[in-house]
Parts: sequence; C-alpha cells; structure tokens
Amino acid sequence: MTRGIAPQRLQSLTISVLSCVVGMVLGCAPATNQNLESNNNADPTAQPAGHFAIGRTPTPREITAWNIDIMPDGEGLPTGSGTVAEGRELYLAQCKNCHGLEGRGGPFDRLAGRLPEDAFPFDQDPLAKHTIGNYWPFSTTIFDYTRRAMPMDRPGSLEDNEVYALTAYLLFLNDFVGEEARIDRETLPTIVMPSRDRFIRDDRRGGPEIR
Ligand code: HEC
Repeated sequence: MTRGIAPQRLQSLTISVLSCVVGMVLGCAPATNQNLESNNNADPTAQPAGHFAIGRTPTPREITAWNIDIMPDGEGLPTGSGTVAEGRELYLAQCKNCHGLEGRGGPFDRLAGRLPEDAFPFDQDPLAKHTIGNYWPFSTTIFDYTRRAMPMDRPGSLEDNEVYALTAYLLFLNDFVGEEARIDRETLPTIVMPSRDRFIRDDRRGGPEIR
C-alpha cells in the first residue's frame, strides 16, 4: 500500500473535523440583548492596543514616493516639459508596436481619434471604440496614466520630461494641440477635453454614504 492516509482514517478525520466545526458553531453564544447593548455603547473609533500588531506608520518620504496621482486641475503635476516632436520620437521607439502608428491600428488600445462633432455614443453603442480624444474627460489623466502604467512592458521607466513629451504627442494626435506645442504643468490642465462634462463627478467621501 502506498504511503498516505488510509480511507478509514480519512473518514474518522473528516468526522472529527466536522464535529469541531459543529462544536464551534454551538459554542458561539447567541447575540443576547446584553451583548448588543454593550456593543452599542462601545466607542466606534477605539482600537484595541496593538491591534493586529503589524505594520508601522509610513515615513513622509515613503508617502511622497507613493503619492503620484495627478488631479484634473493639475494638482500633483511635476516640473518639466516636453514637445510634440520629442514625444513623436519616443512614441515611435516605445509605444508604436503596441498602439500602432499615430495611435491607431496596433494590437492594443487605440489612442487617437475624435468623432464628428465630438459625439459620445457610448451609452447606445457599447462596441464603439474609446480613444483619448473621444472619451477621456481630463487631459491630465494622460500624464498620470502614462507615467504610472506605460510602456506596459516597462512601467515607471519614463522620466517626467518624457511623459510630458508623450502627452503632448498624444494630444497632438487627437487634434487638441498644434505640432509646435510644448506641454508643462501650467499648460496641460488648460486643455479642455470635449468629454469633460459627459461624466458625473463622484464626490462621495467614503463611509456610510451610499448613492
Ligand atoms: C507591450 C505593449 C504596450 C506598449 C509597449 C505600450 N502600451 Fe500602452 N497599453 C497597452 C495595453 C495592453 C493597454 C490596455 C491596458 C488596460 O486596459 O489595462 C494600454 C493602454 C494604454 C493607454 C490607455 C488607453 C485607454 O484608452 O484606456 C495609454 C494612454 C497608453 N497605453 C499609452 C502608451 C504609451 C504612451 C506608450 C509608450 C510610452 C505605451 N502605451 C506603450 C500595451 C502597451
């Protein structure tokens, strides 16, 4: 016989595991009024000392390193700048293979293309292709997304000036800026995307608020 647990032994193990579970369930005191009352009186913000006993407060330096989100109004944008021409060069070297020449026709997401009169048909046509130009509500998201996630095979490898240049080039491909444009933390938030008012702003602050 091969080594291992014999069927009879397995059966008795199963039974004892089951009886443990049953015992635990029965052992659980039902919630009496007294229990509920004492829970209600508890300070909801109180944490038992050494709760879980893991982790530590992050240092300001660690928080700064993680805090890379860019807000629609440009809050969080770093210093630096980049031009459409610089962006084109970077795009051809690092993005074209996945997103196609000029942001179209690649194996992955299409990045460029506006619709006539900046139509927004996505609620009626779920198959309509999203691009930056026809769907994204904020220009600053291009910087945020590219810096944190692209190129997909080397996220985080781009310098801020390179991200500005790629952002400028993607804005140019979608007809938001001219070929001579230079983009920086002042100019980027001033570019108003046609889809900006197509979304309802989620201003919930968390907690029990449900909408
Ligand atoms: C190895 C392939 C690959 C490379 C290289 C790459 N991307 Fe992407 N990219 C993707 C994929 C896949 C997605 C979709 C990711 C997802 O939806 O989670 C994407 C999504 C995007 C999006 C969001 C599109 C949308 O509408 O949601 C942008 C913007 C973008 N990439 C920009 C770039 C830029 C700029 C570069 C070059 C610096 C680049 N990508 C290089 C594969 C790639």
